[in-house]
This record gives sequence, C-alpha cells and structure tokens, in this order.
Amino acid sequence: MFRLAALLSLLSIAAGMVVPPNSQAHRETLAEAAVNTKGLVHKYTTGTMASVFPHASDHAGRPFALMEYHAPCHPSPSLTFLLLPISLSTNNILHTDHHYATYTITTPPEGARSPMGQGRVALMGNITLLPELSPTESHALASCYTRYHPDARWWLPDTVGSPHTSVWARMDVDDIYYVGGFGDTHYIGHIPVDLYAQAGEHRLGSGSGARVSEGQVVL
Ligand SMILES: *[C@@H]1O[C@H](CO)[C@@H](O)[C@H](O)[C@H]1NC(C)=O
Repeated sequence: MFRLAALLSLLSIAAGMVVPPNSQAHRETLAEAAVNTKGLVHKYTTGTMASVFPHASDHAGRPFALMEYHAPCHPSPSLTFLLLPISLSTNNILHTDHHYATYTITTPPEGARSPMGQGRVALMGNITLLPELSPTESHALASCYTRYHPDARWWLPDTVGSPHTSVWARMDVDDIYYVGGFGDTHYIGHIPVDLYAQAGEHRLGSGSGARVSEGQVVL
C-alpha cells in the first residue's frame, strides 16, 4: 500500500502536478527563462549530445546520447564544440541529413532538494565542422575553449603527439526547449531562438571569452 502511494506521488511529481512546499507566487516568465538558459550555457559547459544512428547503420533511426563538452565561444545562439571524428556521436551526426543534433545542459543535481525542480535545456540544431580556420581564428577558439576546458589542450587540433584527431565545430541552434523546474513556479516550453540570442548578453561582459565568427575574431 505504502509503495503504491509512494509510486503515485513520484509519478505526479514527474508530471509536474505537485506544488512543492516552498513554492513562491512568482512564476518564471519566458524572458527570465531565456536569461536563465543563457546562464546555464555559460555556467555548465558539460552536457549531453544526442544524435540518431544513420540509415546505413545496424541501429538506424535509434537515438544515442553521450556526454560532451561545449563552450560559448561563437556568437549566441551558436555553440562551439571540439569534436573527435572517431566518436560515435560525431559519426552519427556527420552521416545524418543536415547534421542534426540536440545538445542538453542540466543543472548538476548535487545538493538539490529535488533535482527535478532544477533548470535544464535542450538546444536543437545542426553541426558544421570548421576544419579550415585561419591560424588567428583557430588560436582565438583554442584560447576561449581552454578557458572552459583546460584539459582540452591535450587534444586541440594539430597538437603534436595527441592521441586523437579533433576538429572545431559550430552548432547552430534553431529550436530551444526549456524546463525551468516544477511547472507552478517555472517556465516549461519552447524559447524563441532570437529571444535567447539577445538574453542576458549585457551581463556577460568580457569574461565570457573571445567570440569568433566566420572570417572574423570578435573580442
Ligand atoms: C543545417 O541546417 C540547415 C537547414 O536546416 C541547412 O541549410 C544546412 O545545410 C545544415 N548544415 C549542415 C552542415 O548540414
């Protein structure tokens, strides 16, 4: 009996139907959700890359998701990746029409009363490899990216003695799905990409690293 009650309450929490005990009157607005998404993208630069196995594979059409790093080094809403062509995610993306991928960023669950009440976001878009950047662009990306991921200096493109071949890549985002937490206090739903692109930019200042756009380094 107890188990059934516990299960039912878990299910209703998962469905967002329970008002958490400390709920406040204010519900996160769409504009706040856009700013909070920008915060997630800059604060937590380890996420999950989701791809789909291509037609020619044994798992054709099945989803696949695995941890990946990103850095906000390209102008918003785009994200910067340093991809290893040998990885299964990269292979799936490059063999799929339009190079579609979805990248999710989640507030770390440690210490939260209920991790289900914390923000997470799925950024949907496609990946363009950037194998032929100028030395200036490549250097600017490396310096921005290693600020977020110091360990990545070991597998930067053209690193002598690196065990991996890597390539810079940009994800262009065309849809955003955000779950701020429980639905009574948080926004849950799509965020227009343009709204997100502008959101919170003035707060980021110069600490957010070099911004690189095609053919041009914007510091
Ligand atoms: C990304 O998607 C857009 C349209 O959705 C397409 O025009 C573009 O070619 C795609 N990029 C790649 C690298 O496939």
